[in-house]
Amino acid sequence: MEQREDKLKEVISHAKEYGFVFPSSEIYDGLAATYDYGQLGVELKNNIKAYWWKAMVQMHENIVGLDAAIFMHPTTWKASGHVDAFNDPLIDNKDSKKRYRADVLIEEHIEKIRQKIDKEVEKGSKKFGDDFDEVQFRANNPNVVRNKEKIAAIEGRMKDALEHNDLEGVYQLIVDLEISCPISGSKNWTEVRQFNLMFSTELGSVAGDASTIYLRPETAQGIFVNFLNVQKSGRMKVPFGIAQIGKAFRNEIVARQFIFRMREFEQMEMQFFVRPGEEMKWYEYWKSTREKWHKALNLGEKLYRFHDHIKLAHYANAACDIEFNFPMGFKELEGIHSRTDFDLKQHEHYSGKKLQYFDPELNQNYVPFVIETSVGLDRMFLAVLSAAYSNELLEDGTERTVLSIPPALAPYKVAVLPLTKKDGLPEKARAIIDALKFDFNCQYDEKDSIGKRYRRQDAIGTPFSVTVDHQTLEDNSVTIRDRDTMEQVRIPVSELHQVIDSKVNMKHLLN
Ligand code: GAP
Repeated sequence: MEQREDKLKEVISHAKEYGFVFPSSEIYDGLAATYDYGQLGVELKNNIKAYWWKAMVQMHENIVGLDAAIFMHPTTWKASGHVDAFNDPLIDNKDSKKRYRADVLIEEHIEKIRQKIDKEVEKGSKKFGDDFDEVQFRANNPNVVRNKEKIAAIEGRMKDALEHNDLEGVYQLIVDLEISCPISGSKNWTEVRQFNLMFSTELGSVAGDASTIYLRPETAQGIFVNFLNVQKSGRMKVPFGIAQIGKAFRNEIVARQFIFRMREFEQMEMQFFVRPGEEMKWYEYWKSTREKWHKALNLGEKLYRFHDHIKLAHYANAACDIEFNFPMGFKELEGIHSRTDFDLKQHEHYSGKKLQYFDPELNQNYVPFVIETSVGLDRMFLAVLSAAYSNELLEDGTERTVLSIPPALAPYKVAVLPLTKKDGLPEKARAIIDALKFDFNCQYDEKDSIGKRYRRQDAIGTPFSVTVDHQTLEDNSVTIRDRDTMEQVRIPVSELHQVIDSKVNMKHLLN
């Protein structure tokens, strides 16, 4: 656990040192849970967006994009259920004065039991070696079975209490499980209260209920209210999707853990409109499609797991999360939800406008059902950064810090480094950049020894470094160094484009 927290601290400080992420308004001591993306952060973020957009929009004939406004008519949020039901149950510890989400405290308790199960399985695997049958072991080992039953009982009670808005029941569960405050260690809790997560503000200069508007807590509603605009103007046929990347705002009670939980963040969401009755088929399709998208990044198969929701949101009939093993443990990275026809029907009801589709094959009008995929851009950023970050001990006994960012997402694709600052080497290096910069983000660096410059590029995740030396002037060849293997080979300048492209082109991820 400690090791993991150390890793998060290291990632945060590395992100700041190299210009990926800064605390927001730092000269005023920052603003809680708000961060700014620096010169390298914005490149990585843009590349993640491009990977998502290409995969979702460009690679699917039947998915189109949208960029809706952050402000929406306030009735939108009444219709979507956010005014009445977008609440988190919160609880305070009276000794530490720290505030927690009650459901998260319980989930963390469950996670500890899950870890006990995993340890038991690991022990079994060591004991039985090649004969080990994990499925059998999980089904029959008494300790595993007992812990699984414990989890099921806790989940059952939590689901029941949350679904019935039984806040006393949630409180009682925390007491019964003897959950203590991670800061003070005490079990001195307040009652559990509901807290609405939407930020509100006033439109124009008139105060009062009529002019209260909200900062959107999800981008999805901008898609729902534009469903017919897009369907009609784009002559879209069900099944089809609308994708959007944009800011969302939530007044999170507990906004901690760096960019994992922020009050202002970005979502990449896609609503896929399908025939009623076909939603489960599409739900499964999108679960596996999104899993492939994540795993194509090669951050490590074992870093992902699916988690079915215990308590379904007010709009869903099935929902799961793709969880990622962040430095803080497995946490939600993406949500996949079967939202039924809830949102469109609610908007029909509140707006008085029909939001239906005429299906020419069925010769019938209906309100489509919706499958949603929703991934946090900032969480993707943290997933990539934390999985990519490592301190390597090299064969010669020295250490290097390297960011093994998937090459297609790396802020710079290539650094071009003149061996010395004279003899025409800088000019030659700049000429090479001029030829490459249309296709690749390049960096020029002439300061310090070549070894130090390589380390700097490793630390920011640049897949290739190209060194221009005196031989370059004679035969137009350069050495190209691979970030991951650290191997250097000499190649003609004319081959540079192809060698770099073969590794960094995003199409290798999209195939
Ligand atoms: N439209 C559905 C929706 O908003 P959600 O599970 O509440 O569903 C979707 O959010 C994704 O948005 C999450 O999986 C997460 O990646 C991201 N997200 C949610 N709250 C966040 C926060 N406070 N900070 C950063 N990312 C957040």
